[in-house]
Amino acid sequence: MNLFIIKTGAGILLFFLLLGLLYSSVWQPCRVIDPVEQGQMLPADRQPPGLPMPGAAPGRSDVQTLTPWLAPVVWEGTFDPVVLDSIYQAKNITIAATVFAQGKYIRFLKKFLETMEQHFFTGFNVHVFVYTDQPIEVPQVKMASGRQLTVKTVPTVNRWQDISASRMVLVLALIEDELHDYADFIFCLDVDSQFHGRWGTESLGDLVSVLHPGYYKVDRSAFPYERRPISKAYMAPGDGDFYYCGGAFGGLLQEVHRLTKTCSTNFGDDAKKGIEAAWQEESHINRYLWINKPSKVLSPEYLWQDFKPREPELHIIRFSGVVKNYAEIRPNV
Ligand SMILES: *[C@@H]1O[C@H](CO)[C@@H](O)[C@H](O)[C@H]1NC(C)=O
Repeated sequence: MNLFIIKTGAGILLFFLLLGLLYSSVWQPCRVIDPVEQGQMLPADRQPPGLPMPGAAPGRSDVQTLTPWLAPVVWEGTFDPVVLDSIYQAKNITIAATVFAQGKYIRFLKKFLETMEQHFFTGFNVHVFVYTDQPIEVPQVKMASGRQLTVKTVPTVNRWQDISASRMVLVLALIEDELHDYADFIFCLDVDSQFHGRWGTESLGDLVSVLHPGYYKVDRSAFPYERRPISKAYMAPGDGDFYYCGGAFGGLLQEVHRLTKTCSTNFGDDAKKGIEAAWQEESHINRYLWINKPSKVLSPEYLWQDFKPREPELHIIRFSGVVKNYAEIRPNV
């Protein structure tokens, strides 16, 4: 009798042991691995603010956020402004910005400066350099402490193509003569534009360019690069990464110094041969950035065009070209 109970008990035990073994070997691999349970990630409510753990990086899957040479492409939702600002606040950086308001383009300056004050590197040292042929027309815009504006008088130039040509030379001279002692970064921006949202520390990098809003979704064969081999801005068929804006670029002083030096030299070489590149300065910048890859690329959030309908991937428009009445701004067009 006793022996029977022991045998039956052992049998039942063996049965459950086998069942358990079967369960763990058959069912275990089918379970969805939860990173929280696996200890690779803290539960959402226990994560320190602004510091997602590795493997849980925030980001965007609907847009390209990294170039093939591993430079970030900055879109809303790919960075933490609080973390970034605290890094650069500790360094007490100064950002220089240049803007050209010649001829009738002076009419865009007031809105540009007012909106810049609201959105461009708020809380940082900013020094804006306004180049104009009408210094008395430069509007008074109240600026926060740490921010200043310097007016530079330049001769009147009528064609915007010529303004674009002289820009490079003037920015180069500014970096060499005045900025190298105290500014860390510089941005060169088009005046016929307004800020609508934050443009801040997320845009900082060694060499920074902006994807052109008209060409970030088209094949590179359709990019309006300079295609004549005789030009120093020449881009062969099949060459090129992106089509960048001439209306906004920047970076570390020494990098923008190299860019403006190369582009103004190439521009001058073309001029000696009687050539003007398809999109002047923009063509030379695109050639330069093909050879010297930008270390950070800004999405078209950083230079949209008011006349363009907003695309779904644009969660914010930070800076945008205003709709121009070309008849009014002649002869600058
Ligand atoms: C920060 O930089 C500004 C501008 O260059 C300068 O005037 C100021 O003294 C600096 N502050 C500190 C704490 O270094």
